[in-house]
Amino acid sequence: PVGVLKDSLARPLHDLRISVTDRCNFRCVYCMPKEVFDKGHQFLPQTALLSFEEITRIARIFVAHGVNKIRLTGGEPLLRKNIEKLIAMLSAIPTHDGRPLDLTLTTNGSLLARKAQSLKDAGLTRVSVSLDSLDDATFKRMNDVDFPVSDVLKGIDAAHRAGLGPIKVNMVVKAGLNDQEIVPMAQYFKDTPHILRFIEYMDVGSSNGWKLDEVISSSEVVRRIIDAGMPLQPIDPNYTGETAARWQHADGNGEIGVISSVTQTFCHDCSRVRLSTEGKLYTCLFASHGHDLRALLRDPQAEHSDLAIASVIGQIWNNRSDRYSELRSQNTTALNRPKIEMSYIGG
Ligand code: GTP
Ligand code: 5AD
Ligand code: SF4
Ligand code: SF4
Repeated sequence: PVGVLKDSLARPLHDLRISVTDRCNFRCVYCMPKEVFDKGHQFLPQTALLSFEEITRIARIFVAHGVNKIRLTGGEPLLRKNIEKLIAMLSAIPTHDGRPLDLTLTTNGSLLARKAQSLKDAGLTRVSVSLDSLDDATFKRMNDVDFPVSDVLKGIDAAHRAGLGPIKVNMVVKAGLNDQEIVPMAQYFKDTPHILRFIEYMDVGSSNGWKLDEVISSSEVVRRIIDAGMPLQPIDPNYTGETAARWQHADGNGEIGVISSVTQTFCHDCSRVRLSTEGKLYTCLFASHGHDLRALLRDPQAEHSDLAIASVIGQIWNNRSDRYSELRSQNTTALNRPKIEMSYIGG
């Protein structure tokens, strides 16, 4: 084992998020708006994608560096062919302390009813499912491909039955679009084992036309839920660097979370690194530049050992100083630069 790495702000590296495809069968208006991700949009060609062997090799190096959680993202990760095979390969990676790896994925739920059991059998430990509304008209307006709510709910049920819980349900709140669904969603998921999390709409990428006045703050979300007759109490984080602030229903029947990357930033203990589908490593969700690990893996001039790659990764993390959300809230003008798209790098 190489030991836990620290970046230039003393943050450890614990969480590796791997995007396995840049494609998605949804066109969520806040993520892959149809005007941009249309027929003319160039997705990555097959040869550009990291193979399962390449992904697993990189993952093994990260785990040796102290990563204890791997999250598969997309696009929609369940669209990647034979994803179960990758999950089986990743779940076999030995950890340095012998504790099992937390191996999870973030999905839109559309293929979950069909795949939940095989994902569990392959070694997946849990899932997070995106769901922005319980109202079909609103949900369809957001996913923009006419996908019904009921199929996502079936996916959540199937995942629960397969033992992939507790399931986190992620709702991006966009003012004027689905904020009227905050209270119904809270009501629906109260008294279930699932954890509903409200996400502040973010300025990721450059294609969603983000405006600050379309953000509903987490404090407003909590206030609306309490005002609707569901008192909440704050509870401690599960681990340092958790994205969500946790709240418990006062009657003890369930928990919600709020992810406030706009109004209450959490960069100070961000321990996440992201690997793109084509093998670029990004040290922040809002980065404009990634480090090309695929070039090392496929270098025609030289074979690079795991140790050599580990040392490159170590240097990248040691030099890291990203804290985009904090800078955004300080109103820094230097933020007007190109950013990677969420569908390219995953959530
Ligand atoms: P757990 O492992 O269950 O704690 O989940 P998580 O919160 O790490 O992962 P998830 O994919 O469920 O994250 C939910 C959402 O939080 C993502 O879709 C993003 O919108 C947002 N998010 C996650 N990580 C970051 C981050 O590092 N920075 C910012 N700004 N937002 C993030
Ligand atoms: N703001 C906040 N979250 C976003 N996601 C995608 N785009 C945005 C955005 N602009 C998140 C959603 C979805 C996950 C895949 O990415 O949580 O569930
Ligand atoms: Fe697809 Fe998720 Fe983006 Fe929606 S948010 S377009 S489901 S990747
Ligand atoms: Fe981490 Fe960047 Fe998100 Fe801050 S904005 S929490 S540094 S990924």
